[in-house]
Amino acid sequence: MISDPQSFLTTVQTRIQSQLNHFLEKQNRVAPRLHAAMIYSVLNGGKRIRPALAYAACCACGGEPDMADAAAIAVELIHCYSLVHDDLPCMDDDDLRRGMPTCHKRFSEDVALLAGDTLQALAFASLSTAGGDAERRLQMLHILASAARDMAIGQTLDLEAEQQSIDLERLETIHRHKTGALIRASLALGALSAGPVNADLLARFEHFGDRLGLAFQVHDDILDVIGDTDILGKAVGSDQRLGKATYPQLLGLEAACALSAQLHQQSLAALAELPGTTGPLTAVTDYLISRDR
Ligand code: IPE
Ligand code: IPE
Ligand code: MG
Ligand code: MG
Ligand code: MG
Repeated sequence: MISDPQSFLTTVQTRIQSQLNHFLEKQNRVAPRLHAAMIYSVLNGGKRIRPALAYAACCACGGEPDMADAAAIAVELIHCYSLVHDDLPCMDDDDLRRGMPTCHKRFSEDVALLAGDTLQALAFASLSTAGGDAERRLQMLHILASAARDMAIGQTLDLEAEQQSIDLERLETIHRHKTGALIRASLALGALSAGPVNADLLARFEHFGDRLGLAFQVHDDILDVIGDTDILGKAVGSDQRLGKATYPQLLGLEAACALSAQLHQQSLAALAELPGTTGPLTAVTDYLISRDR
């Protein structure tokens, strides 16, 4: 599956779509609207970047794709939950997500809230079935829990910074939490899916994920300014409407683009310190910076 980096993302998207579909199919349907809201918010054409990172890290550590399925499902479910809540009126109040009405628009706010909650619980349920011994599974569950906590911290700081003037250091803290944490966890969980990983190697994945996660959110901020709603599948200008603290807002568009290019280079340099077959990780890294959606 992973030998050709060019087709890596497409292959991952097909694989994770089928994995997520199968996983959600098995879930309890006592509340059909809740189940429908989860299906709607997950099986809807996301780019699947976090699963791609998990599979790519697993590959770099010598693992086969099936070893990373439980982790890939878990990180995408946490991500989908974060998007459902991020779009709620009490947060970013957005109507469009992945080219479709947001979950609370299609269903209702209460159902969207509970669908997000349930997706988070299911993420841990998925990860608890990862291979390896119990000690490694516990390590993985702890990594995911820390990332989900940090994402919520970052989202809180993001909301508190609306209409405020904050400095670059604060903005980096927000981005490293709200987005970076799950990117870093996706890499770590992918790596651990292949087998035990020593602290030195985990730290190298962490450093790579740190640069990549920041690059990813800077690019997201830029797309909110120069992107096309039809291609992005979410409304451009949302950040400006809410007075969000973003890199283009703080630095100007040109400097934000320069920073994104710099972070891309730093990501590639960090990637060069990783062992194994890193072609898939390079493919995802390059895609993240050049994407238009
Ligand atoms: C959007 O993430 C939210 C951020 C953390 C910036 P993605 O750009 O990965 O969204 P999907 O999953 O492809 O819709
Ligand atoms: C979202 O950041 C981060 C999380 C969902 C954790 P944004 O609010 O910038 O994401 P989009 O632009 O709505 O996708
Ligand atoms: Mg937000
Ligand atoms: Mg948002
Ligand atoms: Mg955004």
